[in-house]
Amino acid sequence: MANLLVLGTQWGDEGKGKIVDLLTPAFDVVARYQGGHNAGHTVYVGGKKIVLHLVPSGILRAGTLCVIGNGLVLSPEAFFRETADLEAQGVAVGPDRIAVSRSAHLIMPWHPLVERLSEDLRGEKRIGTTCRGIGPAYEDKAARLGVRAGDLADLGVLREKIEENVAAKARLLAASGLPPLDPEAIFREYAGWAGKLGPFLRDVSALLHERMRRGDNVLFEGAQGALLDLDHGTYPYVTSSSSTAGGAATGLGVGPKAVHGVLGITKAYTTRVGSGPFPTELGDARGKAIAARGDEFGATTGRPRRCGWFDAVAVRYACRVNGLDRIALTKPDVLAGLGDVPVCVGYRYKGEVLKDFPPEPWALEKVVPQYRTFAGWPASLHGASSVESLPSAFVDYVRALEDLVETRVAIISTGVARAETVLLDAELDGLVDLDRVRRGSAE
Ligand code: GDP
Ligand code: IMO
Ligand code: MG
Repeated sequence: MANLLVLGTQWGDEGKGKIVDLLTPAFDVVARYQGGHNAGHTVYVGGKKIVLHLVPSGILRAGTLCVIGNGLVLSPEAFFRETADLEAQGVAVGPDRIAVSRSAHLIMPWHPLVERLSEDLRGEKRIGTTCRGIGPAYEDKAARLGVRAGDLADLGVLREKIEENVAAKARLLAASGLPPLDPEAIFREYAGWAGKLGPFLRDVSALLHERMRRGDNVLFEGAQGALLDLDHGTYPYVTSSSSTAGGAATGLGVGPKAVHGVLGITKAYTTRVGSGPFPTELGDARGKAIAARGDEFGATTGRPRRCGWFDAVAVRYACRVNGLDRIALTKPDVLAGLGDVPVCVGYRYKGEVLKDFPPEPWALEKVVPQYRTFAGWPASLHGASSVESLPSAFVDYVRALEDLVETRVAIISTGVARAETVLLDAELDGLVDLDRVRRGSAE
């Protein structure tokens, strides 16, 4: 079959974790290519809730190898906290299940400190980051100061890099009234992680190359979403990595032809956590109703997610920058019974209607969404197993969205459980081995 790239098409939290877990039985390897423990993916297995941050969402299917690519920034502390949690829930997480790239950058103790300072300095213009040290770790990577996972193999190199970084950060911390960092204490902490992380460390590019040569299928898993991408998102209100499709190649050390298909995960409405423009945001009771019904609270920070209507201009843009083949539409059940459903089909800006998404936040702040209103679907969508069993008003909504974003829907998710999913066989043909997925769903 083929390798599939699965990513978010909005501002994250589209339900990537659920869909990746559902599709994993058709794949031998699930590989994350960017981000860190800023991500939060909630997956329900047998009624049990499991939240993943750094570990790929393929981990819940025994026999799947999970890969953490060079494009990620990894906090050893967060990694081992998460693997310990998983183990406590009966999920095996040893080095036979998870491979970590030697070239992944490490989140160091100064990164969350620097992030808090930079968010405070921004004042009203703060990004609203997850304060996990993600952005500063990527800054140090670009500044060529970063400490990489592979550096843990040589304690002399590790010590030197820590000293170099502590010196580089000293002036900023002193000017901010913070106590100086203790390089020896940091060295001891990370030397401790070296022994634990060592068995997981691999040359991920070589590993994937070998697995693909053997005919194994790889699912490339994106975190965050297209509109949070460092280049293509609503800069500067973005994350610091390449969450769009292009990031898969650089973030894992594979060629672009390793990706045979791209599936975008798209919520039937829109949410956003943190600051930044959000044209279809609902500041009224309807926004609150969607948040309550959709349980829209961040899985990582617990912050309430901002909610609004589906934005077809934004999603069409995401389809373009990612070269999407198909969409998996999630959470339409949340809108059931809420009455008419408006969809943003254009932006009015300076007297004209824009067809294309302007990534500049200052323009997006000023656009006035143009809505087309669709009849809602009063009936619950839970339990639907085929398109025929879905309410016709909802099917009309799906068809209209497909036209608006110029991409076909291949999966409709109607609830948190694996079984609450409608697979459109013809649309998934050639992208996913459905027999393997269905055998997996029966588990
Ligand atoms: P991710 O970051 O893209 O993996 O998404 P999150 O896990 O952060 O947020 C999606 C939330 O919606 C999770 O709590 C999922 O359990 C839940 N979810 C996923 N698909 C559906 C669906 O079709 N319907 C409903 N009601 N909830 C869903
Ligand atoms: P998943 O994978 C939603 C947002 C933060 C903030 C901005 C930058 O669960 O979809 P960062 O800490 O990354 O520097 O914060 O990005 N953000 C997310 N929003 N879902 C996520 O991940 C996010 N990861 C980061 O809220 O606005
Ligand atoms: Mg999430």
